[in-house]
Amino acid sequence: MMKRDTVIAANWKMNKTPKETKELILKMLDGLRKYKSKIIICVPYVDLSVAVECTLNSNIIIGAQNCHWETSGAFTGEISLDMLKEIGVSSVIIGHSERRRYFNETDEIINKKIRLLVNNNMNIILCVGETLDEMKNHETISVISKQIKTALCGINKEEVSNIIIAYEPVWAIGSGMTALPEDAGKICGQIRGIMRELYDEEVAEKLIVQYGGSINSENVMELLSQNEIDGGLIGGASLKADEFVRIVELADKIIDRE
Ligand code: PGA
Repeated sequence: MMKRDTVIAANWKMNKTPKETKELILKMLDGLRKYKSKIIICVPYVDLSVAVECTLNSNIIIGAQNCHWETSGAFTGEISLDMLKEIGVSSVIIGHSERRRYFNETDEIINKKIRLLVNNNMNIILCVGETLDEMKNHETISVISKQIKTALCGINKEEVSNIIIAYEPVWAIGSGMTALPEDAGKICGQIRGIMRELYDEEVAEKLIVQYGGSINSENVMELLSQNEIDGGLIGGASLKADEFVRIVELADKIIDRE
Protein backbone atom coordinates (compact mmCIF):
# COMPACT_ATOMS: atom_id res chain seq x y z
CA MET A 1 0.00 0.00 0.00
CA MET A 2 1.29 3.42 -0.89
CA LYS A 3 2.02 5.96 1.81
CA ARG A 4 0.14 9.19 1.39
CA ASP A 5 0.77 12.56 3.01
CA THR A 6 -1.37 13.59 5.94
CA VAL A 7 -3.08 16.89 5.19
CA ILE A 8 -4.71 18.89 7.95
CA ALA A 9 -6.77 21.83 6.72
CA ALA A 10 -8.44 24.54 8.74
CA ASN A 11 -11.63 26.18 7.54
CA TRP A 12 -12.19 29.35 9.49
CA LYS A 13 -15.46 30.08 7.62
CA MET A 14 -16.71 33.66 8.24
CA ASN A 15 -14.68 34.18 11.39
CA LYS A 16 -11.82 36.52 12.35
CA THR A 17 -10.97 40.00 11.13
CA PRO A 18 -7.55 40.72 9.59
CA LYS A 19 -6.24 41.85 12.99
CA GLU A 20 -7.58 38.73 14.69
CA THR A 21 -6.18 36.59 11.87
CA LYS A 22 -2.69 37.93 12.48
CA GLU A 23 -2.99 37.29 16.22
CA LEU A 24 -4.31 33.75 15.79
CA ILE A 25 -1.80 32.70 13.14
CA LEU A 26 1.11 34.09 15.12
CA LYS A 27 -0.13 32.18 18.16
CA MET A 28 -0.22 28.91 16.20
CA LEU A 29 2.89 29.36 14.13
CA ASP A 30 5.60 28.06 16.43
CA GLY A 31 3.52 25.10 17.51
CA LEU A 32 2.76 24.12 13.93
CA ARG A 33 6.35 24.30 12.68
CA LYS A 34 7.40 21.04 14.31
CA TYR A 35 5.07 18.62 12.62
CA LYS A 36 5.10 16.49 9.50
CA SER A 37 1.52 16.93 8.28
CA LYS A 38 0.83 19.34 5.45
CA ILE A 39 -1.11 22.25 6.89
CA ILE A 40 -3.51 24.44 4.94
CA ILE A 41 -5.33 27.30 6.67
CA CYS A 42 -8.33 28.65 4.75
CA VAL A 43 -9.38 32.10 5.88
CA PRO A 44 -11.91 34.72 4.69
CA TYR A 45 -10.91 36.70 1.58
CA VAL A 46 -10.01 39.92 3.41
CA ASP A 47 -7.73 38.00 5.79
CA LEU A 48 -5.74 36.26 3.06
CA SER A 49 -3.02 38.88 2.58
CA VAL A 50 -2.20 39.16 6.25
CA ALA A 51 -2.30 35.36 6.63
CA VAL A 52 0.11 34.92 3.70
CA GLU A 53 2.45 37.56 5.16
CA CYS A 54 2.48 35.91 8.59
CA THR A 55 3.26 32.48 7.15
CA LEU A 56 6.05 33.38 4.70
CA ASN A 57 8.96 30.92 5.13
CA SER A 58 6.81 28.53 7.11
CA ASN A 59 5.32 25.12 6.36
CA ILE A 60 1.79 26.55 6.33
CA ILE A 61 -0.14 27.03 3.12
CA ILE A 62 -2.86 29.67 3.04
CA GLY A 63 -6.06 28.88 1.19
CA ALA A 64 -9.26 30.65 0.20
CA GLN A 65 -12.74 29.26 0.86
CA ASN A 66 -14.15 29.98 -2.59
CA CYS A 67 -13.31 31.51 -5.98
CA HIS A 68 -15.32 32.63 -9.01
CA TRP A 69 -15.29 30.49 -12.16
CA GLU A 70 -14.71 33.41 -14.55
CA THR A 71 -11.38 35.19 -14.74
CA SER A 72 -12.82 38.73 -14.55
CA GLY A 73 -15.89 40.77 -15.43
CA ALA A 74 -19.26 41.96 -14.20
CA PHE A 75 -19.68 39.75 -11.15
CA THR A 76 -20.32 42.21 -8.33
CA GLY A 77 -19.03 41.01 -5.01
CA GLU A 78 -16.98 38.13 -6.37
CA ILE A 79 -13.25 37.36 -6.22
CA SER A 80 -11.19 36.01 -9.13
CA LEU A 81 -8.42 33.48 -9.33
CA ASP A 82 -5.87 36.14 -10.43
CA MET A 83 -6.67 38.18 -7.34
CA LEU A 84 -5.96 35.16 -5.16
CA LYS A 85 -2.81 34.20 -7.03
CA GLU A 86 -1.34 37.69 -6.86
CA ILE A 87 -1.47 37.70 -3.07
CA GLY A 88 0.14 34.27 -2.80
CA VAL A 89 -2.84 31.97 -2.37
CA SER A 90 -2.35 28.51 -3.85
CA SER A 91 -5.23 26.49 -2.39
CA VAL A 92 -8.99 26.87 -2.50
CA ILE A 93 -11.86 25.01 -0.86
CA ILE A 94 -14.55 24.30 -3.44
CA GLY A 95 -18.09 23.04 -2.93
CA HIS A 96 -18.31 23.34 0.83
CA SER A 97 -21.78 22.28 1.96
CA GLU A 98 -22.46 25.75 3.35
CA ARG A 99 -21.86 27.20 -0.11
CA ARG A 100 -24.08 24.54 -1.66
CA ARG A 101 -26.80 25.21 0.88
CA TYR A 102 -26.76 28.99 1.40
CA PHE A 103 -25.40 30.16 -1.96
CA ASN A 104 -27.06 27.64 -4.27
CA GLU A 105 -23.81 26.19 -5.54
CA THR A 106 -24.58 23.25 -7.78
CA ASP A 107 -22.29 20.45 -8.91
CA GLU A 108 -22.21 22.18 -12.33
CA ILE A 109 -20.98 25.47 -10.82
CA ILE A 110 -18.44 23.52 -8.78
CA ASN A 111 -17.24 21.86 -11.99
CA LYS A 112 -16.72 25.26 -13.67
CA LYS A 113 -14.66 26.44 -10.72
CA ILE A 114 -12.57 23.28 -10.67
CA ARG A 115 -11.88 23.53 -14.41
CA LEU A 116 -10.53 27.05 -14.02
CA LEU A 117 -8.48 26.21 -10.93
CA VAL A 118 -6.82 23.07 -12.27
CA ASN A 119 -5.93 24.90 -15.48
CA ASN A 120 -4.03 27.31 -13.29
CA ASN A 121 -2.28 24.72 -11.13
CA MET A 122 -4.17 25.65 -8.00
CA ASN A 123 -4.66 23.09 -5.25
CA ILE A 124 -8.26 22.29 -4.49
CA ILE A 125 -10.09 20.78 -1.57
CA LEU A 126 -13.34 19.51 -3.06
CA CYS A 127 -16.00 18.93 -0.39
CA VAL A 128 -18.64 16.26 -0.79
CA GLY A 129 -21.11 14.74 1.63
CA GLU A 130 -24.69 13.76 2.28
CA THR A 131 -27.41 15.44 4.36
CA LEU A 132 -29.04 13.76 7.34
CA ASP A 133 -32.10 12.75 5.30
CA GLU A 134 -29.92 11.32 2.56
CA MET A 135 -27.96 9.36 5.15
CA LYS A 136 -31.17 8.01 6.68
CA ASN A 137 -32.39 7.00 3.21
CA HIS A 138 -29.12 5.13 2.56
CA GLU A 139 -28.26 7.49 -0.28
CA THR A 140 -24.79 8.47 0.92
CA ILE A 141 -22.82 6.76 -1.81
CA SER A 142 -25.12 7.69 -4.66
CA VAL A 143 -25.09 11.35 -3.52
CA ILE A 144 -21.32 11.46 -3.18
CA SER A 145 -20.80 9.64 -6.43
CA LYS A 146 -22.92 12.18 -8.33
CA GLN A 147 -21.17 15.08 -6.61
CA ILE A 148 -17.74 13.74 -7.55
CA LYS A 149 -18.60 12.72 -11.10
CA THR A 150 -20.18 16.07 -11.97
CA ALA A 151 -17.53 18.13 -10.18
CA LEU A 152 -14.74 16.34 -12.04
CA CYS A 153 -16.38 16.21 -15.47
CA GLY A 154 -13.71 17.02 -18.09
CA ILE A 155 -10.84 16.90 -15.58
CA ASN A 156 -8.04 14.64 -16.75
CA LYS A 157 -5.73 12.37 -14.83
CA GLU A 158 -2.88 14.89 -14.57
CA GLU A 159 -5.18 17.68 -13.42
CA VAL A 160 -6.84 15.57 -10.77
CA SER A 161 -3.54 15.20 -8.92
CA ASN A 162 -4.07 18.74 -7.54
CA ILE A 163 -7.36 17.79 -5.93
CA ILE A 164 -8.00 16.61 -2.38
CA ILE A 165 -11.47 15.26 -1.66
CA ALA A 166 -12.94 16.06 1.75
CA TYR A 167 -15.77 13.82 2.87
CA GLU A 168 -17.94 16.02 5.06
CA PRO A 169 -21.30 14.57 6.06
CA VAL A 170 -23.51 17.67 6.28
CA TRP A 171 -25.09 16.42 9.51
CA ALA A 172 -21.67 16.23 11.19
CA ILE A 173 -20.58 19.79 10.38
CA GLY A 174 -20.61 22.10 13.37
CA SER A 175 -23.01 19.76 15.14
CA GLY A 176 -20.69 17.90 17.49
CA MET A 177 -21.99 14.71 15.84
CA THR A 178 -18.86 13.17 14.35
CA ALA A 179 -19.28 10.20 12.04
CA LEU A 180 -18.13 6.94 13.58
CA PRO A 181 -14.49 6.46 12.58
CA GLU A 182 -15.20 3.09 10.90
CA ASP A 183 -18.10 4.56 8.92
CA ALA A 184 -16.08 7.61 7.88
CA GLY A 185 -13.19 5.32 6.91
CA LYS A 186 -15.47 3.11 4.88
CA ILE A 187 -16.95 6.02 2.96
CA CYS A 188 -13.51 7.54 2.32
CA GLY A 189 -12.53 4.13 0.89
CA GLN A 190 -15.62 4.18 -1.31
CA ILE A 191 -14.63 7.65 -2.54
CA ARG A 192 -11.29 6.16 -3.54
CA GLY A 193 -13.26 3.44 -5.32
CA ILE A 194 -15.24 6.04 -7.28
CA MET A 195 -11.95 7.64 -8.35
CA ARG A 196 -10.60 4.23 -9.39
CA GLU A 197 -13.64 3.80 -11.57
CA LEU A 198 -13.41 7.34 -13.03
CA TYR A 199 -9.63 7.30 -13.53
CA ASP A 200 -7.40 4.40 -12.54
CA GLU A 201 -5.64 2.63 -9.69
CA GLU A 202 -2.78 5.13 -9.57
CA VAL A 203 -5.10 8.12 -9.17
CA ALA A 204 -7.12 6.30 -6.53
CA GLU A 205 -4.06 5.30 -4.53
CA LYS A 206 -2.52 8.78 -4.64
CA LEU A 207 -5.74 10.62 -3.79
CA ILE A 208 -5.78 12.38 -0.43
CA VAL A 209 -9.17 11.88 1.21
CA GLN A 210 -9.95 13.97 4.25
CA TYR A 211 -12.78 13.60 6.71
CA GLY A 212 -14.47 16.72 8.05
CA GLY A 213 -17.27 17.29 10.55
CA SER A 214 -16.83 18.10 14.24
CA ILE A 215 -13.22 16.97 14.42
CA ASN A 216 -11.47 17.93 17.65
CA SER A 217 -8.46 16.82 19.66
CA GLU A 218 -10.56 14.15 21.38
CA ASN A 219 -11.62 12.29 18.25
CA VAL A 220 -8.92 13.09 15.70
CA MET A 221 -6.68 10.12 16.46
CA GLU A 222 -9.43 7.58 16.05
CA LEU A 223 -10.48 9.14 12.77
CA LEU A 224 -6.98 9.39 11.34
CA SER A 225 -6.20 5.84 12.44
CA GLN A 226 -8.48 4.70 9.64
CA ASN A 227 -6.31 3.69 6.68
CA GLU A 228 -8.55 5.41 4.19
CA ILE A 229 -8.58 8.78 5.97
CA ASP A 230 -5.54 10.87 5.04
CA GLY A 231 -6.34 14.03 6.95
CA GLY A 232 -9.00 16.33 8.28
CA LEU A 233 -10.88 19.48 7.34
CA ILE A 234 -11.45 21.27 10.58
CA GLY A 235 -13.88 24.11 11.24
CA GLY A 236 -14.71 25.11 14.80
CA ALA A 237 -11.68 23.49 16.41
CA SER A 238 -9.32 25.36 14.07
CA LEU A 239 -10.29 28.71 15.60
CA LYS A 240 -8.52 27.98 18.86
CA ALA A 241 -4.72 28.03 18.64
CA ASP A 242 -4.03 25.40 21.30
CA GLU A 243 -6.69 23.04 20.05
CA PHE A 244 -5.58 23.24 16.42
CA VAL A 245 -1.91 22.76 17.30
CA ARG A 246 -2.90 19.78 19.47
CA ILE A 247 -4.81 18.24 16.54
CA VAL A 248 -1.76 18.57 14.29
CA GLU A 249 0.43 17.13 17.05
CA LEU A 250 -1.89 14.11 17.39
CA ALA A 251 -1.97 13.63 13.61
CA ASP A 252 1.82 13.35 13.77
CA LYS A 253 1.57 10.53 16.29
CA ILE A 254 -0.39 8.56 13.69
CA ILE A 255 2.20 9.32 11.01
CA ASP A 256 4.96 8.08 13.34
CA ARG A 257 3.01 4.91 14.08
CA GLU A 258 2.63 3.95 10.41
P1 PGA B 1 -16.61 21.68 11.89
O1 PGA B 1 -16.59 22.19 10.35
O2 PGA B 1 -15.26 21.10 12.17
O3 PGA B 1 -16.90 22.91 12.69
O4 PGA B 1 -17.69 20.65 11.99
C1 PGA B 1 -15.96 21.45 9.36
C2 PGA B 1 -16.17 22.12 8.02
O5 PGA B 1 -17.24 22.68 7.78
O6 PGA B 1 -15.28 22.10 7.16
